Amino acid sequence: MDNTDAYLLNFKGYYLIRSTANTDLLKNLEEFEVRHDDVFIITYPKSGTVWAQQILSLIYFEGHRNRTETVETLDRVPFLEHGVPKMEHQKRPSPRLFASHLPYYLAPKGLKNKKAKILYIYRNPKDVLISYFHFSNMMVMLEAPENIEYFMKKFLDGKVSGSLWFDHIRGWYEHRHDFNILFMMYEEMKKDLRSSVLKISSFLERQLNEEDVEAVVKQATFENMKFDPQANYEQILKHDLGRRTDEGSFLRKGDKQRFTGAQLLRVPLSPWPPC
Ligand code: A3P
Repeated sequence: MDNTDAYLLNFKGYYLIRSTANTDLLKNLEEFEVRHDDVFIITYPKSGTVWAQQILSLIYFEGHRNRTETVETLDRVPFLEHGVPKMEHQKRPSPRLFASHLPYYLAPKGLKNKKAKILYIYRNPKDVLISYFHFSNMMVMLEAPENIEYFMKKFLDGKVSGSLWFDHIRGWYEHRHDFNILFMMYEEMKKDLRSSVLKISSFLERQLNEEDVEAVVKQATFENMKFDPQANYEQILKHDLGRRTDEGSFLRKGDKQRFTGAQLLRVPLSPWPPC
């Protein structure tokens, strides 16, 4: 594969956003030191990463839950493979929370001893595609697609950051026995957020009392996050990542998307739902 794309970095057959990739970390990714109490949120892009970052941050940090601290969610749950914000992960106190879009075969070796936990969120690929199309139009770090047809071709060819949706989810699912991993479906979370929060906190062995659960659920709803500056990424989009346009927001619709019948047929349905 060539590696001349202005927007995409090809790392061992997987595409990442070139301008934000942490190339120093990638050099030693396999050996990245994983701690037993680390937690990784792993997703294909546009599948609910920020949502999971908010939920985990609320579960883990009392100061986030009761709003006595004002730390950006991305600072609490930074991306492993990206350098925005800049972080020295080895100096972070435990427990560390991470987000990542990496495929299973690039996971640090330390994740395979099954001590650290992984929360994998997946979402209907048709909705991922539309969400991704709008996001690409908005952000300078991604190629602005000429139209939905152009983007659909790129998405179905896996020529986008995150590579092919199907490979990502199939890879993690087929290798699930190598990891300590919980799969959650975006649509189920949407349907019953409270049960999803309970399932996630139980997997993470974090017992929350009734009041805490209420606080997490309340602050993790789409409506709340859309208007919560700490949770909606707007500052980061504007100042750290760079917007192409002021129109649009990160939390756009958070729901099912509209497709024309002809377009729908071209997105493979067979693996859905995949697990
Ligand atoms: P839409 O563009 O369809 O609105 P990611 O964080 O992986 O980039 O995913 C972004 C998608 O997750 C966006 O989808 C965003 O609206 C949605 N999302 C974020 N927070 C959400 C929430 N609390 N409830 C439902 N969807 C949410």
